[in-house]
Amino acid sequence: MKLLFIGDVVGSPGRDMVKEYLPKIKEKYRPHITIINGENAAGGRGITEKIYREFLEWGAQAVTMGNHTWDNREIFEFIDDAKYLVRPGNFPEGTPGEGLKFLKLNQLEIAVINLQARTFMAPLDDPFLKAEELVAEAKKRTPIIFVDFHGEATSEKQAMGWFLDGEVSAVVGTHTHVQTADNRILPNGTAFLSDVGMTGPYDGILGMEKEAVIHRFLTSLPVRFEVPKEGRTILSAVIIEINDQTGKAKKIERLLINEDHPFYH
Ligand SMILES: [Fe+2]
Repeated sequence: MKLLFIGDVVGSPGRDMVKEYLPKIKEKYRPHITIINGENAAGGRGITEKIYREFLEWGAQAVTMGNHTWDNREIFEFIDDAKYLVRPGNFPEGTPGEGLKFLKLNQLEIAVINLQARTFMAPLDDPFLKAEELVAEAKKRTPIIFVDFHGEATSEKQAMGWFLDGEVSAVVGTHTHVQTADNRILPNGTAFLSDVGMTGPYDGILGMEKEAVIHRFLTSLPVRFEVPKEGRTILSAVIIEINDQTGKAKKIERLLINEDHPFYH
């Protein structure tokens, strides 16, 4: 089976890119499952129920999250009923939502796990211990396991890749919003990429208006970052081919769509 994962969708420019390109990407690559990281989808911070439902309508089967999970308060109203929304599994016990969800694809099941890293980020439960626990739970039902590891440090993301090599189908990183070029299949069959990159404004800084970010660096004053409403856009994704029987990855391919990387179909 083939899995498409779209990296951190930022605000309405990101959502517009998904709406426009998801059908084209599907036509060209024919993925069986599409997963989107949507933690920045509502104005750069969090997600709303409408956006979550739109992602499913546009052809995604699951939405993963990260450190901005709670930034839009609407999440508390719908997370309990959002069957295909996966938030970092290592949030403290008792937090709403879940870090492991299962998707059905004919006779197959796909486990989707979301975890958040800790280096240069909020102190959460140990993502490695939580990964072990969630992977053991997932393996009872399926060998096809996808992990979105939302983190800042490349080292921590590489560590998770090696830690789970042979245990899961793929470990891909999100959160830095810049696509890395280290896609590979680790020796025991786990597809890995440090960061998938973002989907949204192309001429901002990590998807936010560049002027505000530069002002913050120049002055150290508190500045509210906004998603630019106009301008060029980018879509960042990864396509992973997985053996249905063993859950091992066969191929991992990066996808970038922007004016410097045109999409041919
Ligand atoms: Fe993030």
